[in-house]
Amino acid sequence: EKGGYDYFMLKEIAEQPKAVADTLLGRIGAEGQLTLDELRIPAQVLKMVDKVVIVACGTAFHAGLIAKYAIEHWTRIPCEVELASEFRYRDPILDARSLVVAISQSGETMDTLMALRHAREQGATVLAICNTNGSTIPRESDAVLYTHAGPEVAVASTKAFLTQLVACYLVALYLGQVRGTKWADEILPVVRDLARIGEEVERVLETMEPVRELARSLAGHDTVLFLGRHVGYPVALEGALKLKELAYMHAEGFAAGELKHGPIALIEEGVPVVVVVPSPRGRSVLHDKMVSNIQEIRARGALTIVIAEEGDRAVVPYADHLILVPATPTLLQPLVATVPLQVFACELATARGNEVDQPRNLAKSVTVE
Ligand code: M6R
Repeated sequence: EKGGYDYFMLKEIAEQPKAVADTLLGRIGAEGQLTLDELRIPAQVLKMVDKVVIVACGTAFHAGLIAKYAIEHWTRIPCEVELASEFRYRDPILDARSLVVAISQSGETMDTLMALRHAREQGATVLAICNTNGSTIPRESDAVLYTHAGPEVAVASTKAFLTQLVACYLVALYLGQVRGTKWADEILPVVRDLARIGEEVERVLETMEPVRELARSLAGHDTVLFLGRHVGYPVALEGALKLKELAYMHAEGFAAGELKHGPIALIEEGVPVVVVVPSPRGRSVLHDKMVSNIQEIRARGALTIVIAEEGDRAVVPYADHLILVPATPTLLQPLVATVPLQVFACELATARGNEVDQPRNLAKSVTVE
């Protein structure tokens, strides 16, 4: 059942190109238009939306954080992202013009379910992004966009995360399409890139041996830090979460711009820091800032592990280890940049003798508070 792999997690990492392609299947038309009629939310309602609120837990929350950048950029609708466990005990301001997106692989996470009930009581439209047909969260939502990752067995989420990202991009692009924002000039080219992204994920998977080797060499460390900016920041958080749950190591993700506000004090000789570098093309100011951050931490002794776009020469002098990923539009980069972090965490867990598919103290689906 593990299809020749030692762990479900390895199998699920390998299935990602297909999972991504399956989640796109039938949802992009020949002209590049999004065909999400399956949502059955009337265009009138989508046109009226004046606020998007995303609620989720764990890895699904990280997908939501990335979605915020895409939604606000492509649709100009303000978007908030909140941990479902915080949202449900707050007094959030919602009404009939609010679109609440609940992201959940299992569709059974208690906090996310309670958050969506809370949202519906206040008249918001709730859209579920879910991987499990007929589960409670989509059943209780107004609309659902299923991810087609197939069953995810390993406790650590991998393919579900990538497909949640795809679903979030589809929703963001669709909202842009329905509302006519930035359509032809910006959205259409991105749709074309998104349609091909499964192949890029496949290419990343083919180059993972050095990442595994690096992970094994770090098995004796007790801390790994992760830095990112823009959509690279949630990727850093996700890389750190994977490492905590699988390798039981102290792992933390930071927004690179926060370094000087505290975290840089953690940098000492030999501490491994994974840095997610945005594309040098397009909004290159982000890239340049990240390169200076790498220089800063390296000058203080950090062992720099740099994830950057193929052809990015500027990072080479400062990378103790360089992991290259294919060029993508900035907003789509998480789909390729997360994969090495999954492989890294899985290999580190194995090297430390941990149980990969069933980490201690964790359950696949958290149906209690
Ligand atoms: O089933 P859900 O997507 O609602 O689950 C949310 C989290 O419990 C889940 O993503 C968790 O953080 C994973 N173990 C992370 O790998």
